[in-house]
Amino acid sequence: MSLQPQTCNTLIELARPSLAALPRYVRALREGWSPDNVGGKATADRQLARIDEDAAAFVDSLEDPEGRGPEIVLPDGTRAKRLPGFVRWIWDGDFCGSISLRWQPGEPDLPDHVLGHIGYAVVPWKRGAGCATRALGLLLPQARAVGLSFVELTTTPENVASQKVILSNGGRFIERFRKPQAYGGGEAVRFRIAIDAVE
Ligand SMILES: CC(C)(COP(=O)(O)OP(=O)(O)OC[C@H]1O[C@@H](n2cnc3c(N)ncnc32)[C@H](O)[C@@H]1OP(=O)(O)O)[C@@H](O)C(=O)NCCC(=O)NCCS
Repeated sequence: MSLQPQTCNTLIELARPSLAALPRYVRALREGWSPDNVGGKATADRQLARIDEDAAAFVDSLEDPEGRGPEIVLPDGTRAKRLPGFVRWIWDGDFCGSISLRWQPGEPDLPDHVLGHIGYAVVPWKRGAGCATRALGLLLPQARAVGLSFVELTTTPENVASQKVILSNGGRFIERFRKPQAYGGGEAVRFRIAIDAVE
């Protein structure tokens, strides 16, 4: 990464993706950051191509609370129905990363192929400054607002930073499990955050 480390301003907000802020998102993708921990660079490249093709349609696709978007493609190429969800950009006056929420309407649990209600990724030059911890805290009331009483998050046993983000937001360890074959198997850990009392 060519960008210098920066601190994450304490006044971060979760911004709805917009065309106005898109150039900062594109810059992060071009620097090699990916919003998708599993898909990595392939997801970033695919998004850059979609943005080139139709930037407005790309931004619109990040807000899908009725799950109307196309089927999702799992890492092994199998397809599955898209759940309702939306993406927020973690913003401190500049782009810090993204955090997303997905859910099954009227149902707290997720299908097996969906590894958690919430996913997040912070750009490397803003890591270690509290961005993800604050962003998850800000998203929990929004998860409550769509009717969830808890959220589950999964990560790998090695991802200590992500586990700390979850624990700092009231997460409780649930289990160690093997990811579905569609994700190539591998160990993962599941946490749950109760949000029935979150305002
Ligand atoms: C995981 C990730 C989102 C953390 O983002 P972040 O903004 O750096 O997290 P925070 O600054 O809020 O730090 C959270 C905690 O992790 C610690 N931490 C940060 N980087 C760490 C590292 N590399 N190793 C160990 N601990 C680390 C912080 O010190 C902090 O600890 P504390 O709560 O005891 O103070 C970020 O590293 C990232 O984007 N990783 C790649 C994508 C990813 O793994 N996403 C999660 C998928 S489940």
